[in-house]
Amino acid sequence: MLRIGVFGVGHLGKFHLNNWKEIPGVELVGFYDPDDKTANEVSEKYQIPRFSDPDSLMDDCDAIDVVAPTNFHFDLCEKAIKKGKHVFVEKPLAHTMEEARQLVKLTAESGIKFQVGHVERFNPAFLSIKDIPLNPMFIEVHRLAQFNPRGTEVSVILDLMIHDIDIILSIVKSDIKNISASGVGVMTETPDIANVRIEFHNGCVANLTSSRISMKKMRKIRLFQKDSYIGIDFLNKKTEIIKLKEPQDSNVFAFDIETPNGKKTIAMASPVIPEVNAIKEELTAFKNAIVNNTRTAVSEMDGLMAMDVAHQILEKIGNNVIMQ
Ligand SMILES: NC(=O)c1ccc[n+]([C@@H]2O[C@H](COP(=O)([O-])OP(=O)(O)OC[C@H]3O[C@@H](n4cnc5c(N)ncnc54)[C@H](O)[C@@H]3O)[C@@H](O)[C@H]2O)c1
Repeated sequence: MLRIGVFGVGHLGKFHLNNWKEIPGVELVGFYDPDDKTANEVSEKYQIPRFSDPDSLMDDCDAIDVVAPTNFHFDLCEKAIKKGKHVFVEKPLAHTMEEARQLVKLTAESGIKFQVGHVERFNPAFLSIKDIPLNPMFIEVHRLAQFNPRGTEVSVILDLMIHDIDIILSIVKSDIKNISASGVGVMTETPDIANVRIEFHNGCVANLTSSRISMKKMRKIRLFQKDSYIGIDFLNKKTEIIKLKEPQDSNVFAFDIETPNGKKTIAMASPVIPEVNAIKEELTAFKNAIVNNTRTAVSEMDGLMAMDVAHQILEKIGNNVIMQ
């Protein structure tokens, strides 16, 4: 049995508790949360022991799951790594680049398994295209959310856009050539809405819009590549592929059109979406990496690279931000 302790049982931490309870081979040892009201509710509802200090919970576990606000990630992760415990930490990896680099260094020296909670990698819509060769030349991204004070200890870049930055870095195998960005702080002192253009050396351009002050929700990535368009709807868990030739997938609708280069077939497919719970998948992947001694699906280096791009974006916005 892999012994797990959860640090932070607020909004997301409760989802983690529910999922850990369902993952075979895991023993949920207990949780640590300094907030008495939240902790009392959780102890009663989940019947899991509350630990009153982080050290004693860590000492009783093989691995920890950090779901505390971002400014506490570093202290908890550093302590756990130094005790030789495996770490799963929610995104973003840390509050500052210096902290993130230090966590990467400590992990390399310790040999523990470390995974960052970039959960969109496990979104069923994204999983449905995992066997399709991706080489996008243009990427259009929209991540829009209604305002919620939770998460506003960091900018919209580190709160929301970092999900898309991680997905894009996992797809585009090229270094970044240039970033331009602008943002507006409306409800907080940091950007709440931002538009970013990332140019890669291989010619790919990604255009990202993130907002946490929208009336409606949207989480979409559209990939345009030479022979196809792939639309991934992370919110509604749907994927759409439009190709210039008939794809292998089932569920295909095709029609012919005349073009200046002759007749072409346009084929549309909706890949089968796996019925999975993304949080359960990512936590199971972490457990399996420990048990099988394999690489974690989203490593500390992935977390650092996403943060590095996020911080470059924030620097660009720094010269550009419009405060209301
Ligand atoms: N992957 C995702 O899609 C996603 C979504 C939401 C939040 N998050 C991340 O999860 C983390 C928590 O977010 P949330 O929305 O659950 O926040 P929340 O405010 O609802 O909950 C955080 C909890 O952590 C507790 N806490 C505070 N200091 C602590 C400490 N030192 N040790 C342990 N617990 C502590 C708080 O009392 C609170 O109960 C953040 O890092 C956030 O970025 C990720």
